[in-house]
Order: sequence, then C-alpha cells, then structure tokens
Amino acid sequence: MSDYVLKTQDVAIHYGGVKAVDGVALTLERGQIRGLIGPNGAGKSTVIDAITGRRRLTRGRVELAGEDVSALGVVERRRRGLSRSFQRTSVFGRMPVRKQVELASHKMGTTDSEADADEVLRELALDRLGDVIASDLGYGEQRRLDLALALVGRPTVLLLDEPMAGLSVQESHDLAKHLQALTNRRNVSVLLVEHDMDVVFGISDEITVFELGRVIAAGRPAEVRADPRVREAYLGSAA
Ligand SMILES: Nc1ncnc2c1ncn2[C@@H]1O[C@H](COP(=O)(O)OP(=O)(O)OP(=O)(O)O)[C@@H](O)[C@H]1O
Ligand SMILES: [Mg+2]
Repeated sequence: MSDYVLKTQDVAIHYGGVKAVDGVALTLERGQIRGLIGPNGAGKSTVIDAITGRRRLTRGRVELAGEDVSALGVVERRRRGLSRSFQRTSVFGRMPVRKQVELASHKMGTTDSEADADEVLRELALDRLGDVIASDLGYGEQRRLDLALALVGRPTVLLLDEPMAGLSVQESHDLAKHLQALTNRRNVSVLLVEHDMDVVFGISDEITVFELGRVIAAGRPAEVRADPRVREAYLGSAA
C-alpha cells in the first residue's frame, strides 16, 4: 500500500511515431502541490489526459489512492476523486455562475449540489458573483470559475493545466493563494502545469521537469532550480 493519492508508473502515450509521453513516473502525496514544467510540446497536457483517462495509454499504469484505475473511463475516475481543469477556459457563457457550479455538482451525483456549490463559490471568493452571467465576468474571475467547476464533488486530486494563463501578475498571485489554501482546507492534492515560473517555484512542494515526453528532473524547487540539465533545457538565463 502506498500513501500516494496519485501514482503513475511508466506511462506512455504514442501517436504513431510521436512519443508524446514516454515512460513517466509521477507521485502526488496528500495535500501536496507538484509543479509540472517543461517546454512547449514536452507532453505536459498529454500526461494529464493520460491520468484522467481522456487518452488511452500506450503503456503503463495509473493508480488513485493505491488502486489501479488504468482501465477506467474519465467519468468513473472523476467519481473517484480525480478532477481537472483545461488549458482553455471551459466556462459556459450564458449561464449564471451559481447555476453553472450547481449543475456541475449535480452531474457529479452530489447529494446536496446547492450546498456543495455554495461552499466551492465561497472558497474561491465567487459567492458574491453567483448571479452574474459567466461571460460578464472578468477573465480572472472566469479562471476562478474554471477552478470552482473542477472542485465540485470534493475531489481529492486536482490536475490543473495552465490555470494562470492570461492572468495579470496580481490575478496569478491571488489564484496561487487560493490554491494553497485549498490544499490545506480541503486536503486536495494538486498537479500544476504552469508556465509562470514565479508561481510554480513559489507554491510547489515539489517540481517535475519534462522534456520530450520524459522526466529529466524532479525534486524540491531549490534542487530543481540548481539542476544543470534543467537550466540548460528549460530555464535558460531566466534561472
Ligand atoms: N492528438 C495528437 N496527435 C498527434 N500528436 C499529438 C497529439 N496531441 C499532442 N501531440 C504531440 O504530443 C507532444 C506533446 O504535446 P502536449 O500538448 O502534451 O505538450 P505540452 O507540454 O502540454 O505543451 P504546451 O506547453 O505547449 O501546452 C507534442 O509533440 C504534440 O505535437
Ligand atoms: Mg499543454
């Protein structure tokens, strides 16, 4: 038995000759934030698709709370606590914020979707915007709504694909604060794909670095930042 809420072993996804992801081992402990970084096309989104079941594995295995879920579909994995947000916003334009979150919660089979929605909205400081039509929200608020939609039904694992994309420095900082609070208050573990290095190095407990579908480094932020291979492959002079 492992203490990991999430574990991947030798996960691979190949598209014909393209090895988008090739032999990836990742772990996530309870309440942990793991940053996942790497250049464009390194396979970060694909590995999220592999974990959620959106893409079929070419090879390997995905475990959720010690159980092999590799053969299960997206919906079943979501029911078991594995949730995600997408690289682009998945907010429905014409529906009020609260309605949308309630609906998402209801779809999850939550017994009290109103209470669940209320709690999630409060958690992300969206409660006062419940009656606002989603498309009237500011972009930063829409990204918070994305996160709210991923949080219904009390997931244990959140896979976030560039949640800060397009946000101002202040908005990114706010969202990062929310994420940290969530891991404490809701005991959620987060796999965070993000290009904003200040955010990733600031809030991750551990960081995994991808290059060409493989893990080239993993460890605490300070170790990863000092790794010569990482500096060469990715951080460049920015480090
Ligand atoms: N459906 C597909 N068919 C063929 N190749 C694909 C497909 N989806 C992704 N790829 C390839 O797989 C590799 C990994 O792509 P992926 O989108 O996972 O990278 P990423 O790390 O998320 O990049 P970015 O930072 O730009 O979002 C790329 O070479 C991409 O072109
Ligand atoms: Mg991507």
